[in-house]
Order: sequence, then C-alpha cells, then structure tokens
Amino acid sequence: MLMPLPQNFSASSATTAANLVSDGNGAAHAEAMRAELQAGLLAAPASAAPKYLYDALGSRLFEAICLLPEYYPTRTEAAIFDANLAQIAQAAGAGTTLIDLGAGNCAKAVRLFPALQPRQYVPIDISADFLAQALAPLRPCFPAIEMTGIGLDFSGSLDLPATVRQENRLFFYPGSSIGNFAPDQAAAFLQRMRAACGADGALLIGVDLVKDKAILDAAYDDALGVTAAFNLNLLRHLNRLLGADFEVRDWRHRAFYNPQQSRVEMHLEALRPLSVRWPGGQRDFARGERIHTENSYKYTMQSFADLLGATGFGAIRSWTDARGWFAVMHARAV
Ligand code: AVI
Repeated sequence: MLMPLPQNFSASSATTAANLVSDGNGAAHAEAMRAELQAGLLAAPASAAPKYLYDALGSRLFEAICLLPEYYPTRTEAAIFDANLAQIAQAAGAGTTLIDLGAGNCAKAVRLFPALQPRQYVPIDISADFLAQALAPLRPCFPAIEMTGIGLDFSGSLDLPATVRQENRLFFYPGSSIGNFAPDQAAAFLQRMRAACGADGALLIGVDLVKDKAILDAAYDDALGVTAAFNLNLLRHLNRLLGADFEVRDWRHRAFYNPQQSRVEMHLEALRPLSVRWPGGQRDFARGERIHTENSYKYTMQSFADLLGATGFGAIRSWTDARGWFAVMHARAV
C-alpha cells in the first residue's frame, strides 16, 4: 500500500527530500529502450521484457495482484518473515546497508526496519516517480536511517553511486522476483550481486517454490481479471514508449504453468489478424499469435540453494511455510 502523501506533495520535492539519485543519462536510456522493444516485437515469437509491465498504472495493478486470494506469494512470504523475524534479523545482523531491489512502495523493507535496524536504506526501482512518492514520507518516520533512493534498471547494471555505503551490504530481493529471470540470467544477476556485496555482504531473498499446476495457473489468471489488466496494460505502456498503436481490445491475457520449464508463462494473444505500427517499424500478427511478456520460474529449496552456491554465496539459512510453497533465504558472500 502507498503511504498517504503530504498535502503539498510534488514529485520534485520528493526527489530532493528523499535524496533520489539518477544517472542523468535519460536520452541514451530512452533510445536503448526503444531499440530493445523494437527488437522484441519484431522477433519470432514476439516478446517484451517484463520490466515494461511496471509503468505507474502497472505498479498499482501489481499492488492489487498482491491482495488477490489466488496470488499466494506475497502473503505467504510476509507470514514467513513474521514467524521468523528474530532469526532472520540475527542472521543479517544490525547496522546493514539495506539495498532494496525493486523496492516499489518500500513497504516490505519498512516492516523489517524495527528488527533489522539498518544503518542506511537504499531502495532501487525502475519506476523513479513511484519510488519518490513512497520514499518522501518515510524519512521523518525513521530519522536514524540514512535514505538514498535510486531510480535504476538494476537488471542491466548494479553499479551503485558512491553515496551507497560499502560496508555490511545486505541485498534484499523479496517477492520471488528472481523468478522473472531465466536461470542463466538469474545466475548472472546473483553473480553481480555477489560482486557488489564486497567481502562482508549478504543476500536476503524470497523464492517461489514448485507446486501444483492448478494453484499456479489460478495465481496468474485470477477470477477478477486483475492479472489480465496488468498484462494488457503493457500494450498501453508500449504505445507511449514506442509511439505504437496497439489496441488493447484486440488482445487477451494468457497465463499457465509450464512444468517442463518449471515456469509460469504470461503472453498476450491477438484476437484477430492485425498490424501494429510505430515510427520506424511495423509488425503483423495472425489471430492467436502471441507476445511473450513474462516468465516466472519456480524453484525447489535444493535447486535454489545450488544456484546460490554456484554464484558465490554460502552459509545459507532458509525459512519456509507449512505448505512448503515459498522460501526466504539468507546467504553470505563467500
Ligand atoms: C514480480 N513478480 C515476482 C511477479 C511474479 O509472480 O512473477 C509478477 C507477476 N506477474 C503476474 N503476477 C505477478
């Protein structure tokens, strides 16, 4: 949930008040983004990276997904944290530089502040505006914690500005977002985190576990259609980013667990033959043709522990729920 905003709130005042950092390279990023999107749309099969699900509305829709009865990961992970907070805090130690990857509304990390007592809080999110709104009201509530928000697509780079303390870094990556990387990309990302940890860093991560197909199918194709709206909203985002002319009503949401690949796949499927145009390009889609928008890989405790071991982490401690649906793991850089 977003914190209530002060009456006189504006995005620019939040940027200053919450010490939001960006690299000032906006034009180059926008061009790279258009090239990436175009390449994905022209590929066979077409695809769009899941990070494009998260414009301002997409971030709100994802918050709504987390409240759905079918979408168990958020509340299962929260229950694991609640039930094991003292042990988790003991594994992490006090005074960390808490680096919150994909922080969104910052709520998950904030709930851990009293137990973890970080020295610095560094939320990072691709949606800098959303982050600025979430961070502004936090500073006065936690004056002892230095706060440095960063607007960054951390899937590309984990180069952190000098304002982020080197000592005692704890990368916090909850929500099973690691599942949105393919296994080789997940390994590369964990290696980048390991490198950014330095000698004394650690990782606190949420991992969604393999389970019954019916539960997974429902979690990503809910009865209210919120996940469908989240997926379809990507088309409006692409229209703005690329100047494309997608008609949302020409597409439908598809999501299902693929047990061979151990992943839930999300696609957008054309309801009729159609053409999509944007400045400098166009793509024809046949009826039933899809744009692959997201994978959400599911692990076993063992397969994820193996991945951590292979990417330079050790001293692994894990906590799970009674049904064994989700795991929280703490691992130290070794
Ligand atoms: C952010 N990520 C972990 C979510 C997931 O479960 O893969 C995104 C999501 N996509 C559809 N529902 C939720």
